[in-house]
Amino acid sequence: MQMQKRTIFISGGSSGIGFALAKKLIGMGNNVVICGRNADKLTAAQEAAPGVHAIRCDISKKADIESLNESIKQKFPEVDMLINNAGIQRPIDFSKGPEDLLSNEDEIQVNFRAHVYLSAYLIPILAKHRESAIINVSSGLGFIPMTRYPIYSATKAAIHSFTMSLRHQLSSTNIKVFEVVPPIVYDTYLKGRPQPKTENAITAEEMADIIISGVEENKYEITAGQTKKWMEMGKEEADRTFQMMNKKID
Ligand SMILES: NC(=O)c1ccc[n+]([C@@H]2O[C@H](COP(=O)([O-])OP(=O)(O)OC[C@H]3O[C@@H](n4cnc5c(N)ncnc54)[C@H](OP(=O)(O)O)[C@@H]3O)[C@@H](O)[C@H]2O)c1
Repeated sequence: MQMQKRTIFISGGSSGIGFALAKKLIGMGNNVVICGRNADKLTAAQEAAPGVHAIRCDISKKADIESLNESIKQKFPEVDMLINNAGIQRPIDFSKGPEDLLSNEDEIQVNFRAHVYLSAYLIPILAKHRESAIINVSSGLGFIPMTRYPIYSATKAAIHSFTMSLRHQLSSTNIKVFEVVPPIVYDTYLKGRPQPKTENAITAEEMADIIISGVEENKYEITAGQTKKWMEMGKEEADRTFQMMNKKID
């Protein structure tokens, strides 16, 4: 599908993959709207990508999602692409009981619930256009969990399942549903600090290019690096990879 002359809403477009996408999509002649919690980050993103519209919003809050939906309806009714990108990643050690779980932001609300609600609210807007899309960003960890990030991994598995159902339910409409499965992307702030460059990591710009060309080619499951292999692994290999990834270091 065409990635030009669109109005695109990206949740969490003020840094990382979302920002790289916003910058490239603006350069391709699209109207782009981003959201995030931190006003300074939104302003910096607008300075670095002139023309990007920004809405301050915390998608972990139901009320913010409702007012975001109202703002989009009133100011950007031409939105024909929703990119559910915002995400957070927290280490949680359940052997301590609820301590870590309760002391952190709720990944279930940000990484899963928000995307479900945003999709539901925006479907009537997307349905008004000739050709629209919902693009959900999951992760390789949705296929092979990293136990240090148990809730993160589970929310990404949930996004994969939800995306499959949504794609099937909307298959007779004008709304195409894509899933993006990034590998490690460095210089992003998923863990609240810059992700270091590791062996299999790619840049946010590279990931944005892969997403754009994947959507242009109607590739409904957009993988990069090792994530294609991870999505397609049989149980035995997946179990081996799981053990290797979660090896205890004494
Ligand atoms: N980086 C990786 O290695 C990697 C790998 C696989 C999948 N992914 C997925 O890719 C997506 C983007 O990740 P990234 O690495 O680009 O992250 P990032 O650099 O941390 O950017 C996350 C964006 O989401 C926004 N955000 C976070 N919580 C929010 C909330 N409650 N309400 C509104 N906006 C919120 C952030 O802005 P504020 O902080 O100002 O709110 C920021 O704009 C995520 O879904 C992530 O799970 C990333």
